[in-house]
Amino acid sequence: MNSLIQKYNIPGPRYTSYPTVPYWDNDTFSKEKWIETFKKSFIESNSSEGISVYIHLPFCESLCTFCACHKHITKRHEVEEDYIDTVLKEWNLYTDLVDETPIIKEIHLGGGTPTFFSKEQLKKLIDGLFVNAKKHENHEFSFEGHPNNTTKEQLQTLFDVGFTRVSYGVQDYNEKVQVAIHRVQPFKNVEKATRWAREIGYTSISHDLIFGLPFQTKENVIHTINKTKELQPDRISFYSYAHVPWVKGVGQRGFNEQDLPKNEEKRELYEIGKELFAEMGYVEIGMDHFALKTDSLYKATQEKTLHRNFMGYTANKTQLMIGLGMSAISDSWYGFAQNVKTVKEYQKIVNEGEIPVFRGHILSEEDLVIRKHILNIMCHFSTSWDAKHLQMDAIENHLEKLKEMEADGLVFIQQNGLTVPEKARPYVRNICMAFDKRLHSNKPETKLFSMTI
Ligand SMILES: C[S@@+](CC[C@H](N)C(=O)[O-])C[C@H]1O[C@@H](n2cnc3c(N)ncnc32)[C@H](O)[C@@H]1O
Ligand code: SF4
Repeated sequence: MNSLIQKYNIPGPRYTSYPTVPYWDNDTFSKEKWIETFKKSFIESNSSEGISVYIHLPFCESLCTFCACHKHITKRHEVEEDYIDTVLKEWNLYTDLVDETPIIKEIHLGGGTPTFFSKEQLKKLIDGLFVNAKKHENHEFSFEGHPNNTTKEQLQTLFDVGFTRVSYGVQDYNEKVQVAIHRVQPFKNVEKATRWAREIGYTSISHDLIFGLPFQTKENVIHTINKTKELQPDRISFYSYAHVPWVKGVGQRGFNEQDLPKNEEKRELYEIGKELFAEMGYVEIGMDHFALKTDSLYKATQEKTLHRNFMGYTANKTQLMIGLGMSAISDSWYGFAQNVKTVKEYQKIVNEGEIPVFRGHILSEEDLVIRKHILNIMCHFSTSWDAKHLQMDAIENHLEKLKEMEADGLVFIQQNGLTVPEKARPYVRNICMAFDKRLHSNKPETKLFSMTI
């Protein structure tokens, strides 16, 4: 296994989309084309499955130096009001484009730190959305909370407007690791925030943990998981630390490359976690999630309805996801579009009455087929090109790229499909790369992606 890790641990996408963001064809993309795909998708899906809304709330009071998200660090809470007003204006720019009232199935508040905002602003945001929308009968609303600043009142306010899921950023409980990542967060804060959510009635509480952080050892991971066991979250995300210091605005600093566990050492941390989670009754979902059998993520895996989007794995799939807020990405299934990446520019463009997208991609017929295969591999660890609409031109060229992995026992290729065996789950990103035609036709010359394992 160890030599396989060395062999296949190469830079590669996390496949939260296909094509991946660096391979979007921005030259042929335009705002008008994006709006066309948005309208088409809205008409096809609104009255049946409903739509999803992702809202990016970028502010954080202090910078965690491991964080790869789009954030804006400030302690000035005066920024809240203007930002929420702008998000609601942006929402209205979309609702003005369609005749029917939007039916919202899913809302996800991501960040940055949604709990940076006061309960009043959070309520204004959700109430404001529903001035021009209805709730889907099976709606699922979720948000990301920072355990250091989530209050009982914020949890209650969001619950009262329909939220039942919360995920807390935990990362690691070891003090040396917490100091290195500039995020000192005592267990008692996570405990309190988890208890409050349960008392209020949240039905799915998730903890985000990371393996591969600076100074993290086997002992730290065992300690963190044992502490997590005391709180029994319904889901656990166990992310591989993505080290991408070259990405503008990320700010990964404060530790050195040599402080990071790598290759076999890093993978061992995942394997230890996986074993402990299994002992605790959690089932591995996809590439980096674990869920209790009572959680909808487990049910979705059993029923093969698991989906993957820009936020990672989800039990819900809607064809249309509108991303609001600075840097948010929208997905109409036929196209992607990303908003501008600074708060200042975002507010300026929306206040001029324009949808603030600055780049995107319209999917070709071929992209749509590849997208489906990559989703199948990431979510179900198998795919098939038996059906006519899933057939690919020159499939043999893609399969050729998997020959070595097949010889190493990491993928089984059948007549019209493939399966990834259990032991090859760490290599699933490598398997998807064989289907990634855009990556192969234009190999990156500079560093774009984190390591696959
Ligand atoms: C955008 S953060 C929002 C949560 C909230 N701001 C907090 O910090 O608690 C969502 C999650 O992304 C994950 N994350 C951020 N940067 C990462 C990185 N470089 N590698 C792996 N996971 C990362 C962390 O687990 C984090 O909890
Ligand atoms: S981990 Fe959360 S709080 Fe820390 S910088 Fe990233 S988004 Fe902000």
